[in-house]
Amino acid sequence: MLKVLVASSKGGCGKSTIATNLAAYSALKGKATVLADADRQGSSSRWCEKRAELDTAVLPVDATRKGWQQRIPEDAERVIIDSGAGIRASEIAEFLDDVDVIVVPVLPSVVDLEATVPFLKDIAALPRIKKGKVAVGLVANRTKPWTNASQNAIAEIRGFPFPIIAQLRDTQAYSLMNGLGRSIFDYHSEIVRSHQEDWEKLLRWLKKHG
Ligand SMILES: Nc1ncnc2c1ncn2[C@@H]1O[C@H](COP(=O)(O)OP(=O)(O)OP(=O)(O)O)[C@@H](O)[C@H]1O
Ligand SMILES: [Mg+2]
Repeated sequence: MLKVLVASSKGGCGKSTIATNLAAYSALKGKATVLADADRQGSSSRWCEKRAELDTAVLPVDATRKGWQQRIPEDAERVIIDSGAGIRASEIAEFLDDVDVIVVPVLPSVVDLEATVPFLKDIAALPRIKKGKVAVGLVANRTKPWTNASQNAIAEIRGFPFPIIAQLRDTQAYSLMNGLGRSIFDYHSEIVRSHQEDWEKLLRWLKKHG
């Protein structure tokens, strides 16, 4: 069972978008998938409800409740945990015995980069991460590759203590599909396929750790 925690101290950076798309990808690959929602806002759980009637449904688990791990079915093959904004390194530590990898979305803006640096420093100091037992990957999200701002931000993120495992471009497809309980992996138009390519490196990275 591969367990992925999607987390950042920063709000609105794409945690739920990445968690739901990863969950859908895994379900579409035929894997029994759980989306554990550790955010009291419950957006990932609502996404699961909208998807419930599909063959590739994802089981929601309320991870804000004590003992939520016990509600993960034994046959689950993938568990994606979506955390809320404002999570601290000390709270990440509580998940660390349970997860294989952490995915941290980062928006390519100065304000977001500045807010994320202390969080990354704090998690880099956690023993299980220091020892390499839990891998951390950064996702540059909502990039506009043709802009100087995005290019400068990517250059800065390369200096962070963890690798960039994906650069996801900014597209309204994510919000449109999310509202329908869908993901970009549920569609096959040319434009959507080009956005699926943004995920290839991240999916290979997860496979390596799973
Ligand atoms: N690559 C992208 N392109 C365009 N819009 C995006 C992208 N990623 C996320 N968004 C949009 O940005 C907004 C915030 O994304 P999301 O809800 O995934 O962030 P979050 O980190 O889960 O937020 P919160 O901290 O509130 O839980 C949403 O409207 C979402 O549709
Ligand atoms: Mg969210």
